[in-house]
Amino acid sequence: MSVIVEILASNPLTSAVYALRNGVFVVEQGVPEDLEVDEDDRGATHLAALSDGEVIGTLRIVHHERRAKIGRVAILASARKQGVGRELMERAAAIAFRDGADEIVLGAQLTARGFYQRLGYVEEGAPFDDAGILHVMMRKMLGRT
Ligand SMILES: CC(C)(COP(=O)(O)OP(=O)(O)OC[C@H]1O[C@@H](n2cnc3c(N)ncnc32)[C@H](O)[C@@H]1OP(=O)(O)O)[C@@H](O)C(=O)NCCC(=O)NCCS
Repeated sequence: MSVIVEILASNPLTSAVYALRNGVFVVEQGVPEDLEVDEDDRGATHLAALSDGEVIGTLRIVHHERRAKIGRVAILASARKQGVGRELMERAAAIAFRDGADEIVLGAQLTARGFYQRLGYVEEGAPFDDAGILHVMMRKMLGRT
């Protein structure tokens, strides 16, 4: 059972969020460390899934007027396949909608496409390389009329 909290970059929990991201993207996936935290982090809304006070999942939402970009989706290896990623993504969509977005875009690692498809995201365009990993853009329209 996890609890999801919404935090800004100034929140003390951010260091635990970055530590989780470092473990997943830099250590596990080999992303260069200098690319992992970037300038978008400062203005982003970060979500942290907490279990017994430990950050076991995270993502960030970067706001571009009426478009929200979700990224850095990372679940602790031992907490995967238990619905934490889905919970974070659903909360992120609700927050993006609340904050005025009409759509969400993201760059999905090819190995994670199925995860996002299950959540209603649709692929767009050809795969591209980002930090040595193949990605594809995906989009989901939010229910604003
Ligand atoms: C990809 C990731 C975020 C998924 O998180 P998770 O908590 O394990 O996912 P959930 O348990 O919420 O899964 C939700 C659904 O997606 C499916 N799913 C999970 N990972 C999947 C994957 N890589 N490919 C296809 N389907 C996947 C689950 O089976 C589940 O399906 P169901 O609803 O039919 O039961 C997680 O594996 C992770 O952090 N991976 C390493 C970092 C990474 O690759 N991040 C994505 C960057 S784009």
